[in-house]
Formats: sequence, C-alpha cells, structure tokens
Amino acid sequence: MKKKFNHNTVWGKRMKGKTNNILLETNASIDVDKELYSEDIDASIIHCKMLAKQSVIPAKISKKIVNCLEKIRREIKSKKFKFNKKHEDIHLNIENRLFELIGPDAGYLHTARSRNDQVTTDFRLWIIKSAKSLKQDIKKVIYDLIILAKKNIDVIMPGFTHLKNAQPVLFSHYMLAYVEMLKRDLKKIENLILNTSENPLGSGALAGTSINIDRNYTSKKLNFTKPTSNSMDAVSDRDYVLEFLFVCSVNAMHLSRFAEELIIWNSDLVDMITIKDDMLTGSSMMPQKKNPDSAEIIRGKTAIIISSLNSFFIIMKGLPLSYFKDMQDDKKIVFESYNNLSNNLKLTSNLIKSMKPNKKKMYNYSLKGFTTATDFAEYLVKKGVRFREAHKKSAMLVNIAEKLNLTLNELKLEHIKKVYNNFDSNVLNVLKVENSVNSKKSFGGTSKQNVIKMINKTLKELR
Ligand code: ARG
Repeated sequence: MKKKFNHNTVWGKRMKGKTNNILLETNASIDVDKELYSEDIDASIIHCKMLAKQSVIPAKISKKIVNCLEKIRREIKSKKFKFNKKHEDIHLNIENRLFELIGPDAGYLHTARSRNDQVTTDFRLWIIKSAKSLKQDIKKVIYDLIILAKKNIDVIMPGFTHLKNAQPVLFSHYMLAYVEMLKRDLKKIENLILNTSENPLGSGALAGTSINIDRNYTSKKLNFTKPTSNSMDAVSDRDYVLEFLFVCSVNAMHLSRFAEELIIWNSDLVDMITIKDDMLTGSSMMPQKKNPDSAEIIRGKTAIIISSLNSFFIIMKGLPLSYFKDMQDDKKIVFESYNNLSNNLKLTSNLIKSMKPNKKKMYNYSLKGFTTATDFAEYLVKKGVRFREAHKKSAMLVNIAEKLNLTLNELKLEHIKKVYNNFDSNVLNVLKVENSVNSKKSFGGTSKQNVIKMINKTLKELR
C-alpha cells in the first residue's frame, strides 16, 4: 500500500470522499485480468461497430474508436502499455487509454454495456480459445501414447487389481486405456465449448438496455452461436467457468493416475520401465539418485487443479442474482488451472517419449501371481463345467502350484489331473500368458488384433 491512488474513477463523481487505499488495492484485478486484453478489445470493436450500424453513435467516431482500440492492442502486445491499478481492471485500463488517445469521444464506447456483460463476454471468449489449445495438447499425448503402444505392441505385462497381479495384458492395451480416457476428455472439451458459446454482450448491468442494439450481429461477429436469453442469468452465472475447471480436473486426474503408474513402475522395487535422464532429476546429497520428479509434478499440480474447482464452487454457491465482486477471482483460478494443466500435458508427452518398458521384467512379472488361473476356469467352462465349479477347480490348481513353488505355466498334466480329468492336449497352453492375452478377443479385450483395431480407429478419428 505504498502507492497513493488518484481518484478520478469512472464512478468517482458519486462519491463524497476518497476510496480507502486498502480497498483500491484489493479491488483491483488488473494484474490478473490483463490476460484478457485481446478478447476485451475484440468485443469492444464489435460492440462499437454494432453501435454505429444501429445509428446509436456516429460512424466516424466508431471508426476512430476502432482504430484506436487496434492501436492499444499493439501497445499491449509490444509491452508498451502501462497498466495501472488505479483503473481497476482490464476494461477500465483500456477505456482510460482510449480517453488519453482520442479525448471525450471515447465516452461513446460504453453505450449499452456494462463491465458486467463485458467481463463475462471476454472470459467466455478466452475460455473457448484456451479449451481449443488444451484439445491440441491432449491430442499430442494421445499420439505419443499410440506411438509407444505401436512400438511395443507385443509386450506382455501383468494387469493389476488392488495392485496385485490379476491377468496378463498387453502393455499396448494398457496404454490404450489412457487413450480412451483422453478421448473422452476431448469430447468433454467440445461440449464445454458448445455450452460456452453464448454471447452475454448487450445484457448490460443486469436488465438489458433501452438502446436499439443488435445482439445477433455481435454474436455472429464474435463467433458465438447466439446471444444469451436472459440478461440476469448472463451477468450472474459462471457455470461455464465451473465446467472448464471440471474438464481440467478430470483430464488432470487422468494424467495424474498415469504419472502414478510411472512412479511405481520406475521404482527400484518394481523396475518395469526406464525413463531417460531428460525427464529425471538428481539428489543434492545422494550421488546415485535419479528421481521421477516430472511425474510427481503432474500428480502434485493435479491436487491444485481439483481444489480450484472446489474453491470456485464455494465462491458461487451462496450468491443470489446478479453480479457480485466475489466472482472476480474466477480469472485467477482459471488461469492457474489452465497453466498447470497445459504444463502437465506437456510433461506427460515428454515422459511418454522418454520412457521404455523393460520387456523381460514385465514378462516375468506377468508369470507371477498365477495370472492365468481365470483362463483355466474359462477352459473348463468351455468343457461344460459350471463357472462356479470351474472357479473352485482352478483355485485348487493354484493351491497345488503354490505348494510346489511353480508358476502356472510350469505345471504338468499330472497336476491338472488332480483337479480335472476330461482335458485335451491343449490344456497346458491355456496356462501360458501369451495364449491368455491372445484369447481375449471379446470387444475391448486385450488381444493383439483388438489393440491394432483400436489404434487404427483412434488414428482415423483424430485425423
Ligand atoms: N473486474 C470485474 C470482474 O472481473 C469486472 C466487473 C465489474 N463490475 C462491477 N459491477 N464492479 O468481475
């Protein structure tokens, strides 16, 4: 609070005394919302053109304002613009500069609009733009996963439940599981963009305006699908912000689970993958160390992204209609979430490119934990045994193997005989992990032919 503010705000005439400095300091959002400058200028230009088209303001003045707004855009872009807390936010900083450059005619621009419809218009445009950029980052991760899957299409590993070996799966199938999650995230983003594409501009402070504006024109020119239908809803709600934060949270959660896999697989206890040095860091004390900090950052930042969704829910849940300053913090929350997620996506991309499965280790692990016990049960089912009985017989076979300290694929016909007599020569094959994997031809199962189909389908969809 070192700075003294001067008090000729746009609303200053109504006030008797000066605004308290702590209020000036905390009310100002320019440090954060200057990020919206380009959207703010876009919306102002279209608004100004519309006012002239409707003969609300003189065409000559409209042109002067539009040219000057473009000049301001260049000033901000080239970092020549001086943002000032005295002018609170991006909207008033730009309007103030307009006054400096063209004088009192700048005063025509704010006809039939309020910062309330202005800010939510800008923010919707920003969110649509940023959602599109996240889509590209997600697509990149999908491609990287597919390349990794293709390179290691035949690698067999254990699939887990409860982190205990469950059934053998293809490593490529494992990677494609994450591809499916990310594909759904892309769909969620498309939906978010659709829902955000309504134009609040022209809703005014809350009630609309008596001036003859054309909201269809501004909607079309700003690439919105249509104008919002209720002026109070338009300036009050931020459900599109929550939707953005939700989509970010889900996507971050998916990446975080993947990061957690890599941390476990990269541990010395498991040692199922190696990660190249470019995505590892060292220790200041232990000379031997190579740590997967990159994956831990992804997991850690996810907590912050998810808590942002929570924070903004709490901000919104108690607000009656219409505008309240509480909502101003939506920008900080969203910008942070966007940056964290965009970094997480880039970290994930690079981790995928940097990792290599230890094929032998994976294969050997897949033999452990009697992972083909279900295959034996299904073999019996195909022989006509009821599944519940087959389950028991297979459990008995597992107990025999455990007692003899053998893996299931090491068992002999004499062992099978102890639990089931009516087998054929193929029975021992059933206990092999390769056979197990390739037999999972049910739609969505882990067989190689399914994996190849899914890879091709995804590549087609993304093109
Ligand atoms: N900077 C404000 C925000 O982001 C703009 C809206 C201000 N409106 C108002 N009535 N004070 O929320």
